[in-house]
Formats: sequence, C-alpha cells, structure tokens
Amino acid sequence: MSNENNMAPGTVIKVIVGIIVFVVAAIWLLAKLATSGYEVDAQVMTKEAIAARLKPVGDSVASDASPGQRTGEQVFKAVCISCHGTGLAGSPKFGDAAAWAPHIAKGFETLVDHALHGFNAMPAKGGSPDLSDDEVKRAVAYMANAGGAKFTEPPAAGAEGAAGGASAALDPQVVGKKIFDSVCTACHSTGAAGAPKFGDKAAWAPRLKPGIDEVVKIATKGLNAMPPKGGYTGSDAEFRAAVEYMVNASK
Ligand code: HEC
Ligand code: HEC
Repeated sequence: MSNENNMAPGTVIKVIVGIIVFVVAAIWLLAKLATSGYEVDAQVMTKEAIAARLKPVGDSVASDASPGQRTGEQVFKAVCISCHGTGLAGSPKFGDAAAWAPHIAKGFETLVDHALHGFNAMPAKGGSPDLSDDEVKRAVAYMANAGGAKFTEPPAAGAEGAAGGASAALDPQVVGKKIFDSVCTACHSTGAAGAPKFGDKAAWAPRLKPGIDEVVKIATKGLNAMPPKGGYTGSDAEFRAAVEYMVNASK
C-alpha cells in the first residue's frame, strides 16, 4: 500500500482547497498590480492637492521644466510615485507622517545619500539614472516635507518662472536671494557668530580682496563658525548665487 492510498478523504479536500486559494490569490495579485498605476494616481492627487495648499507662499512650481531642472514635485510624479505613492515594497508612503518620521530623523544629508546611491529595496535614484543629483535632492525634500519634515527644497533653475533662460535662473537676485532668505540669513543678517553682516561694506571689503571665486571657494569649504556652504544642501552653482547676492549688496 502506498501513502497516497492511505490519505484520508478530508486531507485530499484540504489540499485541493489550498491549491484553489493559492491560484485565486495569485490572479488577484496580478490584477491588482496591473491596475495599481491608476489607483495611485487618484489617491495621490488629493494628497498632493493638500500638500500644495500647505506650501509656503512664493514656492512656485515650474510649468515647463527642462531635464535636470525638474522640481521635487515633478520628479516625484515622474519616478518616485511608482513605489512611494502606495508604499510598495515597504517604501515610506507619500504623505504618511508616521511612516516618514523614522526616515526624516536620519537627517536630510543621509536621506539624500540613500536616495542617490540606494538603500535596501530603495534603488539608486529611484531606478532613474537620468535624474540629476539636484533633482533627486528636490524630490527627497518634497516627499519628506509632505511627510512632516521641514527641509529646504533646493530651488530648480527656472522655478521662479521669471523672464529668461537657464542663466537668468541662477540670477543672484532671484535664486541667491531665495537661498539667503531661507538659510544664510540666520547668521548673516545679524552678524551672529562673527559672520560678516549683509550690506556691511566695511566687514566685507577685506574678505572680497582675493576675488569672488576665492570667496566662493572658502565659503563652500567652510571657515571657522561658517559651516560648509553655510549648511545649504543644494548645488554649488546655487550656493554661488547666494554668495553673489550677499556680496553684491555689500560692496
Ligand atoms: C522601486 C521602488 C522605489 C522607487 C521607484 C523609489 N523608491 Fe525610495 N524607497 C523605496 C523603498 C523600498 C524604501 C525603504 C527602504 C528602507 O527603509 O529599507 C525607500 C526609501 C526611501 C527614502 C528613505 C531612505 C532612508 O534612509 O530612510 C528616501 C529618501 C527615498 N526612498 C527617496 C526616493 C526618491 C527621491 C525617489 C524618486 C527619485 C524614490 N525614492 C523612488 C523604494 C522606491
Ligand atoms: C551658522 C551661521 C552661518 C550661516 C547659516 C551661514 N554663514 Fe556664512 N559665515 C558665518 C561666519 C561666522 C563667517 C565668518 C567666518 C570667519 O571669518 O571666521 C561666515 C563667512 C562667510 C563668507 C565669507 C568667507 C570669506 O572668504 O571670508 C561667505 C561668502 C559666506 N559666509 C557665505 C554664506 C552663505 C552664502 C550662506 C548661506 C547659504 C551662509 N554663509 C550661511 C556664519 C554662517
């Protein structure tokens, strides 16, 4: 007598039911995967609408962004949404403050590093190597802020929507001022910690002697109580615009 013949009828039924349940679950899963794109869109639109309303005034979104200059929101919608829109594969879900809190606690630098180079199931640049580093940074800030963080999204060139092409976008009076108002002002408006004060010609004159390139270099590296890039997390070009904005007002 073989084992099969010994199997009680109840066991056979259990095995058959088990197989049926498995097949149904597999079909359901496939169907869900096939339609998930649409569900995500509908779900996130409302969350985004809310996030947009909570945005600080003047934080404009570029309408026609060129590659490399997309805003965090545009990058999120184009790339990150495919996982972070639903929380796929264990990713922190967009707008879910509880899910984001432990990630945000790591700090912006670490999050950017992980987003750029990958982290567990999070692929480098979300699997889109064509994204510029700044675009990834903006997307990190955009997503984390929607989850309760207060990071400064590095401004996209052209994000101001003002006149002109790419060069006008890094206009010290536009991009530089925006960065100054959000970051540098903490020390340079009051002269805190010995920082040369904004608009103080006497304080700036000796520093400007070596020329703007040298000043930018020193400030990028940091100097005594001046943190590298003043703690700004955006690109070197954007930081330079902030230095120029300050210098222009102080000579
Ligand atoms: C293929 C799915 C997928 C895509 C696409 C994706 N992510 Fe993620 N992401 C994940 C997963 C999974 C995690 C959770 C990793 C963990 O904590 O172990 C994660 C975590 C993160 C974190 C937190 C990292 C940390 O250290 O806590 C950041 C920031 C992030 N993603 C940014 C992005 C950005 C920006 C994009 C779009 C450019 C993006 N992700 C696209 C799957 C994805
Ligand atoms: C935490 C305070 C702090 C912040 C924030 C800060 N700075 Fe400074 N910065 C300083 C101090 C202090 C000095 C003077 C350092 C010294 O000479 O010892 C300085 C000096 C500088 C100098 C002169 C460097 C030189 O060659 O002498 C530049 C340029 C500068 N900061 C630019 C910036 C810009 C641009 C930002 C914003 C993106 C910024 N800083 C944010 C504290 C700060």
